[in-house]
Amino acid sequence: MVRLDLAAVLLAVTAVTRAVTANTPSIVPGAYIVEYEEDQDSNALVNTLGGKATLRKDLRFKLFKGASIQFKDTKNADKMAAKVASMPKIKAVFPVRRYPVPHHVVHSTGDGVQEVLSKRQKGNDTFSTHLMTQVNQFRDAGVTGKGIKIGIIDTGTDYLHPALGGCFGEGCLVSYGTDLVGDAFNGANTPKPDADPLDNCNGHGTHVAGIIAAQSNNPYGIIGAAQDVTLGSYRVFGCTGDVGNDILIAAYNMAYEDGSDIITASIGGPSGWSEDPWAAVVSRIVENGVPCVVSAGNDGALGIFYASTAANGDKVTAIASVDNMITPALLSNGTFSVDGTDQSFGFTTGEPGAWTGVSLPLWAVNFDTADPANGCDPYPESTPDLSGHIVLIRRGSCTFVQKVENAAAKGAKYVLFYNNAVGTALVSAPVDGVAGVAMVTAEQGKSWIRALEAKSEVVVNMEDAETAGKFLAYFNNTATAGFLSDFTSWGPTFEVEVKPQFSTPGGMILSTYPRALGSYGVLSGTSMACPMAAAVYALLMNVRGTKDPKTLENVLSATAHPNLFRRSGESLPLLAPVPQQGGGLIQAWDAAHATTLLSVSSLSFNDTDHFNPVHNFSISNTGKTAITYSLSNVGAATAYTFRDHNAITPSTFPSELTADFASLSFSPESFTIPAGQRKIVTVTATAPKGLDEKRLPVYSGYITINGTDGSGLSLPYIGVAGSMHSAVVLDASGTLLSRASDNSNTPVPDNLTFVLPPPGFANDTSYRNRTERPKLVATLAMGSALVRADVVPMSNCTTVARNAGVVFGTKTIGQPEGMPSRWNPRGTFEYKWDGKLDDGTYAPPGLYKFAVKALRIFGDPKVGSEYDQADTLTFRIKYLPGPSAKLRRQDQGGECEEGKR
Ligand SMILES: *[C@@H]1O[C@H](CO)[C@@H](O)[C@H](O)[C@H]1NC(C)=O
Ligand SMILES: *[C@@H]1O[C@H](CO)[C@@H](O)[C@H](O)[C@H]1NC(C)=O
Ligand SMILES: *[C@@H]1O[C@H](CO)[C@@H](O)[C@H](O)[C@H]1NC(C)=O
Ligand SMILES: *[C@@H]1O[C@H](CO)[C@@H](O)[C@H](O)[C@H]1NC(C)=O
Ligand SMILES: *[C@@H]1O[C@H](CO)[C@@H](O)[C@H](O)[C@H]1NC(C)=O
Ligand SMILES: *[C@@H]1O[C@H](CO)[C@@H](O)[C@H](O)[C@H]1NC(C)=O
Ligand SMILES: *[C@@H]1O[C@H](CO)[C@@H](O)[C@H](O)[C@H]1NC(C)=O
Ligand SMILES: *[C@@H]1O[C@H](CO)[C@@H](O)[C@H](O)[C@H]1NC(C)=O
Repeated sequence: MVRLDLAAVLLAVTAVTRAVTANTPSIVPGAYIVEYEEDQDSNALVNTLGGKATLRKDLRFKLFKGASIQFKDTKNADKMAAKVASMPKIKAVFPVRRYPVPHHVVHSTGDGVQEVLSKRQKGNDTFSTHLMTQVNQFRDAGVTGKGIKIGIIDTGTDYLHPALGGCFGEGCLVSYGTDLVGDAFNGANTPKPDADPLDNCNGHGTHVAGIIAAQSNNPYGIIGAAQDVTLGSYRVFGCTGDVGNDILIAAYNMAYEDGSDIITASIGGPSGWSEDPWAAVVSRIVENGVPCVVSAGNDGALGIFYASTAANGDKVTAIASVDNMITPALLSNGTFSVDGTDQSFGFTTGEPGAWTGVSLPLWAVNFDTADPANGCDPYPESTPDLSGHIVLIRRGSCTFVQKVENAAAKGAKYVLFYNNAVGTALVSAPVDGVAGVAMVTAEQGKSWIRALEAKSEVVVNMEDAETAGKFLAYFNNTATAGFLSDFTSWGPTFEVEVKPQFSTPGGMILSTYPRALGSYGVLSGTSMACPMAAAVYALLMNVRGTKDPKTLENVLSATAHPNLFRRSGESLPLLAPVPQQGGGLIQAWDAAHATTLLSVSSLSFNDTDHFNPVHNFSISNTGKTAITYSLSNVGAATAYTFRDHNAITPSTFPSELTADFASLSFSPESFTIPAGQRKIVTVTATAPKGLDEKRLPVYSGYITINGTDGSGLSLPYIGVAGSMHSAVVLDASGTLLSRASDNSNTPVPDNLTFVLPPPGFANDTSYRNRTERPKLVATLAMGSALVRADVVPMSNCTTVARNAGVVFGTKTIGQPEGMPSRWNPRGTFEYKWDGKLDDGTYAPPGLYKFAVKALRIFGDPKVGSEYDQADTLTFRIKYLPGPSAKLRRQDQGGECEEGKR
């Protein structure tokens, strides 16, 4: 999964571009999830496999019956998996995929002792994220989620944190849950479950829990959005690393069976297919009455059509992020003197951060406080030795590391950055010889620069973050308050299902953090938005007295407020596209009290090939008086998927937007509904005219439903004014052959010989030195529901020819084990091949190429012409002799070199 780094998220305002690439989630070799048609004993299943597999996880739940199994010998895993799939009473078999902890941005952490905000907690709720979503009004009215159970699937919770209840179990805030994996789990090793979901090493889940339910006994005025819910904590990540979807499926089912009223997960990986197995399991839980909210993803930089799983599941509620109106920062306390006068200031320490006792004068490369690329170039010859200074550099353009390297080249050991945006950020710049980096605010930096310019001496006294006093600083977010966070991932799915559903604040969020990691932290990500939505569901359950996922999603979507699109610090006079913001920013109080209800949460008119312009939905007046409604259409910005006719990969953020809107007609358009009655209305869409269909424009907007009682609802809709099927899915220029050891995927020359380890010894390190595996690199420009990779024999030798078949006109001896791959996101797909085929045999030595076939969107998998195809160059494989000649004969089949027929 792609990881945006800190700079990419925060520096977007200064137009810093980074190459962003998509990567498909990796699979766990030899591990499969088996779903049963009806309940059966998983140990018995494993026993029938004759000791060839072990049970990874028993997955026998009310809503999912199955197991995940690990074939000991990954050698025959595929063959065995195919055999299992054909056994009676087996519904499906799919590989275990791995997902990372979402890449959130940690801005600052710290514990503090100040009491300045305790006053606020006693009065009405003025916590900024609550003001933005109307959550404050519930607390002011005494509605706090009492009696509602929220299951959190994450890195666990530091429930010993005083603001998270201080205990675990019956009667505690965190009253149920478990640890499915243990500290040492990293996604590749064996999970070691235990009963204790404590998070003392990661932090993500502890931050999430505080957003929902932090108690008021904290020094920073943090208020959980639903302080009286009970939390269930399902720990699915170790201290670092990934999680497999079998563990996620287990955690969801446990959270469901433990009676959670709502399940929230700030986890995901690129997908774009609601059929993804994990998403399908979450959909099933929603169908059984439990709302499931999932973070939309942090891959906004990759542009449109980048929905994340399991958020992209049918009926699963995907949560986008907007930026907080306040930028909080937990700053360390330092002091400085200008010409001898002492004052204090705040900083965010970085990595490295050895600042104890550092007291040095500042030095700056120039006095331009608007310099976009301050310190990016090597310093001039005339620069003095900087070992006796702290170098003050403005943030922006090039990387922190590059700036620190330039300073270090002149002897600097310490660097202070001043920000070019609101607040401060965590700097990571490990550079040889440098002991400390940190960041101060733009204002602080400017005032120091002015003093230096006036030839004053500015001496700064620093402190280690561990020992420095900490205080909370608030900055007005004048640039991005309430706008969609640049990082929030864009839908829709490849089948034009509306994603995300709506948004909450997720950018610059102050919440609890593990005691071991500073107790409090400011983080950004859709991971921070999702739990706020979960809390809102709890508040709505209290007020509306229903837990029905559909009713609640419909009313939240209809009452949410769409916002304008913003890029490069400026808002456009156009609503942000529905694939970015869904229904808009949640307005929880309006949702809790709405008396006009819609039967749907969004509409999709699909693409031009499957244009579905007519939809019916109902409007119910549950109020006490008759209301006259009028319907109208408000268009949002149309987003072009492709930059021009040559582009096959969607544009990175921001894509080109236009003010072309669909026109909608309503029947009836205006009508009166008596109290307690409902009416079905028909909407008919005409796609916007004059768009360039080849560039796949995605149009969207809102049906507004205004009532004479003053109510105003908006129903989001979407459509594609082009053919999804016409989009090229396989990027032939990005489909090539490289070496397994080459991380930069350099293409190899034609006819290169790869010497492979003996069959079955791919993992034996004693062969590493002498072998190299070919790596197939396939780039998917758009998602593909099915990708094949055929191994095509390029010599006429009879042993191979005898075994070769023909699939869709391509001569093939089979596919590499693990192929074909289903439900693929767009991005780069890599496969390191050790010669093993999908039937468990090894390809004989000889000359081959790979023929990659990727199914077009909405394509028929049985028809060859529905696939895009790209072939690699020809390559030759040979195997090193194995330890036993018998093995060699058995696995290699006959020699198959040209000339030996
Ligand atoms: C607190 O909120 C309640 C309910 O909205 C309101 O009636 C009251 O005036 C508010 N109190 C203050 C001090 O703002
Ligand atoms: C910060 O330092 C100043 C000067 O030493 C001191 O007066 C102030 O109390 C400190 N604040 C905190 C939160 O430690
Ligand atoms: C922040 O914004 C609020 C509301 O607009 C205003 O009252 C306050 O003075 C601002 N604070 C700063 C430091 O600009
Ligand atoms: C669009 O049409 C295709 C083909 O009928 C269908 O599979 C898909 O589910 C439709 N999408 C939506 C959102 O209805
Ligand atoms: C309904 O209200 C919205 C928001 O106030 C407004 O933009 C829209 O024009 C109204 N529609 C009608 C038909 O009055
Ligand atoms: C690769 O090998 C094939 C078959 O031997 C031959 O036809 C072709 O010319 C070779 N290509 C190169 C670049 O040598
Ligand atoms: C083989 O190696 C791959 C990575 O090179 C690893 O992921 C896999 O777990 C290994 N399999 C076995 C059976 O050791
Ligand atoms: C790999 O090669 C290096 C240097 O040629 C050698 O020192 C090392 O022992 C070899 N390792 C193995 C596992 O063969």
